[in-house]
Amino acid sequence: MAEPTNVLTLDGNKVSFQAGQTVLQVARDHGAPIPSLCHLDGCAATGACRVCVVEIKGARSLVASCTIPAAPGMEVWTRTEKVIQSRRLNIELLLSMGRHDCVTCEANGDCVLQSLAYEYRVETVRFARPESHYPTEAANPMIIRDFSRCVLCGRCVQACNEVQVNEAISHGFRGARSKIVTKGDQPYEQSDCVFCGECLQACPVGALVEKQAKGRGRPWEMQKVKTTCAYCGVGCQMFLHVRNGRVVKVTGDAQSEPNHGSLCVKGRFGYDFIHSPERLTKPLIRENGDFREAGWDEALDLVTRRFREIRQAHGPDSLAGLTSARATNEENYLMQKLVRAGFGANHIDHCARL
Ligand code: FES
Repeated sequence: MAEPTNVLTLDGNKVSFQAGQTVLQVARDHGAPIPSLCHLDGCAATGACRVCVVEIKGARSLVASCTIPAAPGMEVWTRTEKVIQSRRLNIELLLSMGRHDCVTCEANGDCVLQSLAYEYRVETVRFARPESHYPTEAANPMIIRDFSRCVLCGRCVQACNEVQVNEAISHGFRGARSKIVTKGDQPYEQSDCVFCGECLQACPVGALVEKQAKGRGRPWEMQKVKTTCAYCGVGCQMFLHVRNGRVVKVTGDAQSEPNHGSLCVKGRFGYDFIHSPERLTKPLIRENGDFREAGWDEALDLVTRRFREIRQAHGPDSLAGLTSARATNEENYLMQKLVRAGFGANHIDHCARL
């Protein structure tokens, strides 16, 4: 009987696949745990790290499963001795590329390379570690670039060029001097970077670090709270990383629509206002040119009375509302309701910087 199309053999079992899937995708769909590091979902395979190697019957050497399209009749082995030895060597080579002293690394506990080294028991590195040629870049307020920890996997480049299509970074230089560069190798703040932080989220090691989150908690100390970004109406899904009741970091939720993990500069980095000491927590009433603290009942009674007086004296068009991009959509909705239904005016707007 003829073999059904789109069926291959995975570790001795016949499995079906969709046309266009890679061997890595097929294996993951069927529960075979192939590791990956440079692979970034939705982007072209680069085959840079080779930790995803598998054995394919008839192939002259091990192949990177993220780069190979599944084909009918293929016979794939994901955990042979040869495969495991090759992955161990490739992990060791990645570890030898830089300074991977996990103790003080911000990515400790959330590092793909660290997890791989643990899983494959790569406890020593036999190869000399090159001196880092490039100093850490930390001048901009958002992203620290620690080149000594970079494994040149290229995920940040793909995140920038293929996911966000900002095309601000690329691979630069050659050999031991290879580096992820901006145009003209300028620091981020002088480049085309728009600080969306997609590169930061894609980095599988500790080479890209969020500046304002640095030193504020380990991944296992954080409570991840899923929420909706309040900055605009798109409704991007994100996680607040909370420690001791304080938001210390924000990441996009890769599993949810509409953003699939991506965020803009405001959604990702614009959370410092939450715990700002300058934030007003009590109503202030201006009297004789100075503000004094007041209770909510007194403040609300005052504004209600003054709105009524102004409306009666000058008509509804004398009143307007200016809301904030930092308020939630629901709060902005209520504000326009107050202005339109309460005041009887259509003068409602918002300011992105409020
Ligand atoms: Fe396949 Fe890196 S994940 S080569």
